Amino acid sequence: SHRASICYRPIEPSDRQILEQIHCDLFPIRYESEFFQNVVNGQDIVSWAAVDRNRPNGRSDELVGFVTARIVLAKESEIGDMLRYDPSKPDQTLVYILTLGVVDGYRNLGIASSLIQKVVKYASSIPTCRAVYLHVISYNDPAIRLYKKMSFQCVRRLQGFYLIGGQHYDSYLFVYYVNGG
Ligand code: ACO
Repeated sequence: SHRASICYRPIEPSDRQILEQIHCDLFPIRYESEFFQNVVNGQDIVSWAAVDRNRPNGRSDELVGFVTARIVLAKESEIGDMLRYDPSKPDQTLVYILTLGVVDGYRNLGIASSLIQKVVKYASSIPTCRAVYLHVISYNDPAIRLYKKMSFQCVRRLQGFYLIGGQHYDSYLFVYYVNGG
């Protein structure tokens, strides 16, 4: 074993194959190849990668964690009603976290917490942005604990939100208000 030296950088086109592999390993849902193309090219998606500069075997620039998010219009989102409505600001936005993951062997080091902090900081820097939000499947206890620890509020349980292998699963909707919500 070695001492990890985690650093954060943008996701780049050269990350595409490993990004797809990790999504495939960590999530029960399949993502379209268009999604990965948009992530690595930064098309409509913002993202951050975590890498371990001390990782051996030439893997010092290989992703060990990532977060991907999209900017959406508040009025077109499902949480528009949970924001303080201001008619003078019809252009209010939200940041929606699409995927967050940390590979085995790099868990419980605070990497996901740091990635969420990057998203929150980014969202706070956008004057029109009112909140960061996300869905998480109801049985994902580590992720739910993490969002609660990061002061996200669980605002809804959505019945049968996910369809995986012919089975329906509920999701929780978590929100973190920024810029006065
Ligand atoms: N030393 C020891 N423990 C620490 C440290 C540290 N320096 N920093 C944080 N921790 C603890 C945290 O307190 C937390 O403890 P808890 O479990 O009691 O709450 C725990 O470690 C996890 O926090 P992080 O280390 O920040 O999270 P991690 O990097 O392990 O990633 C994640 C968490 C993303 C849920 C990971 O388990 C994972 O990738 N799971 C599979 C994919 C997944 O479920 N992703 C989320 C789906 S939802 C979505 O994508 C929108």
